[in-house]
Amino acid sequence: MSEKQVTLSKKTYLPDPHYRKEAWCKDAEHAYQGYLTDPDGFWARISHELEWFEPWQKVKEWKHPFARWFINGKCNISYNCLDRHSAGSRRNKVALFWQGDDGTTRSYTYWQLLREVERFANGLKSLGVAKGDCVCIYMPNVPEQVIAMLACARIGAVHSVVFAGFGSDALHARITGAGAKVVITADASIRRGKTIPLKPILEEALIDATTVNYIVVLRTQNPKVSLLPEFEMDFYELMDSVGKKCPPENMDSEDPLFILYTSGTTGQPKGIIHTTGGYMVGTYYTCKYVLDIKDSDVYWCTADPGWITGHSYIVYGPLLMGATIFITEGTPDYPDPGVWWSYIEQFGISIMYTAPTAIRMFMRYGNEYPDKYNLESLRLLGSVGEPLNPEAFEWFYHTIGKGKLPVVDTWWQTETGMHMITTMIGEPMKPGFAGKPIPGVLVDIVDKAGNPVPPGISGQLIIKEPWPSMMRMVNQNEERYRTYWSGPDNSFGASDLAVRDEDGYIMILGRSDDLIIVSGHNIGTAEVESALVSHKAVAEAAVVGIPDEMKGNRILAFVLLREGQIETPKLKQDLIYHVRITLGPIAIPSEIRVVDSLPKTRSGKIMRRVLRAVELGEDPGDLSTIEE
Ligand code: WT7
Repeated sequence: MSEKQVTLSKKTYLPDPHYRKEAWCKDAEHAYQGYLTDPDGFWARISHELEWFEPWQKVKEWKHPFARWFINGKCNISYNCLDRHSAGSRRNKVALFWQGDDGTTRSYTYWQLLREVERFANGLKSLGVAKGDCVCIYMPNVPEQVIAMLACARIGAVHSVVFAGFGSDALHARITGAGAKVVITADASIRRGKTIPLKPILEEALIDATTVNYIVVLRTQNPKVSLLPEFEMDFYELMDSVGKKCPPENMDSEDPLFILYTSGTTGQPKGIIHTTGGYMVGTYYTCKYVLDIKDSDVYWCTADPGWITGHSYIVYGPLLMGATIFITEGTPDYPDPGVWWSYIEQFGISIMYTAPTAIRMFMRYGNEYPDKYNLESLRLLGSVGEPLNPEAFEWFYHTIGKGKLPVVDTWWQTETGMHMITTMIGEPMKPGFAGKPIPGVLVDIVDKAGNPVPPGISGQLIIKEPWPSMMRMVNQNEERYRTYWSGPDNSFGASDLAVRDEDGYIMILGRSDDLIIVSGHNIGTAEVESALVSHKAVAEAAVVGIPDEMKGNRILAFVLLREGQIETPKLKQDLIYHVRITLGPIAIPSEIRVVDSLPKTRSGKIMRRVLRAVELGEDPGDLSTIEE
């Protein structure tokens, strides 16, 4: 049931007025009104801040549920991210600072980054990659990952970035689902001083992946891993063997830019497809007005490019703004829990965009770590991925922001491509609330009948109008795409529960479907269940999300064993290991519970809500459809 009365706190923090005076967005209310008066004019003005090889003819065409944006415009996002700055005053500006797990640092100016991207783009071309072909990128958080993405965009290849924490089955599904022709990987990823081989996981994933013609390997280890001739190429040898100039491909606004897989409510992940022009305008717009990126900033988004946050707010949006970005391969508490704060001091980071799960982890370590470092360079804090609970907000605001800095809690999704709801810089902040829809976005909260709910009553969050960076398709699954847009009055259903206060501030309460947000990562119950069932000892499995103080949610798995199998601690360990290697460490259950039966509907669907309610000691709700 989605409609419930929610008691809402009225606590509000007013940021110093100078933030608003100096922000790109000086008056969000006024901007919102401007959008309502002339929606197309609003987006048109923003689009003109970017370069188009040929101007678009019309802002949008909306034939529910299909939208096209910036019709017939021709552009290239890598050109807007790199060439535009390299040709002008940002030529020698640092585009990217990188900090390795072992303490090594690297940096690239805009000019240098462009040169690397052009050479790697030519390398891909030499492997036969052409406009429209899919390239899978399975790499750790190193500059070459960013270079590979931009190189694909330059030649019109559609990238599909797979987070390096995914296991072989998950990777296989993503490679074959997108029909990748080339996979770019690294020999290993380095985490907490340990070398984790990546290439063997890819080799496993490539079994029966018939579309793949080549793999490209970034080799960082000594001695170098050996490569199969004719099939496996060295990243830098490939770049060195080709020409240095690579003109950007002339892309139509609606040409696909990338596919990014996200968890589905079935066992299969969904390939979310984003296109070029609208995505470019949406990420640029939000980097400017929500994250308020300025030329003097050093901007750090702590995500990984393997997620949408990394696509939109590490790579594309910030580089479109000509920002200096900081990225790191390191983990937040290695070699000690002060390491992130040391980066802020060392690089003079001014905007930090991170996740509630990280904030809660730091809270637990205490203030002594951040207090050791000079954090005065910071001017804006951001959060994404799951609700920033009031306790975490307070800690972030007071301990890191010293009770002065604006905190933007940004709500959005892989599907939306860009921020949708937040508290714009300079606006009053309410702990626990993401905020209001940003100018350009129309949302509502509705009950089961599709009617808007009053303040204080929870309901389903919907988006009422198309926006430029909305996903255009679910790869090879138009039906699934259509269901997204089947909300009341043809709206987009976000599958989140939310509640609004009297001022229109929105608090996100969590998912209303079978996805579990674990440490800000979107995990499908069905995917974990099918991983468990693929183990020979398991007959059936049901997975639920249980609230967790640190991770937001954790995964609890109920399994029914096959005949003759007995429950032992070793078997449970095996099951966890099995999920780890097939799906990846991010998807492992925190606990496995062996049961004799699972609650099911008469049609045989497992009733996860009943399992969850029993586990949490809550009312399981309507049981009339239960089988026994
Ligand atoms: C789901 C989307 C968008 C980047 C990362 C996740 C949850 C995301 C917030 C927030 C409350 C949030 C929602 C959403 N979510 N940001 N600020 N407050 N919840 O992308 O993997 O597509 O997951 O993450 O439940 O639907 P994603």
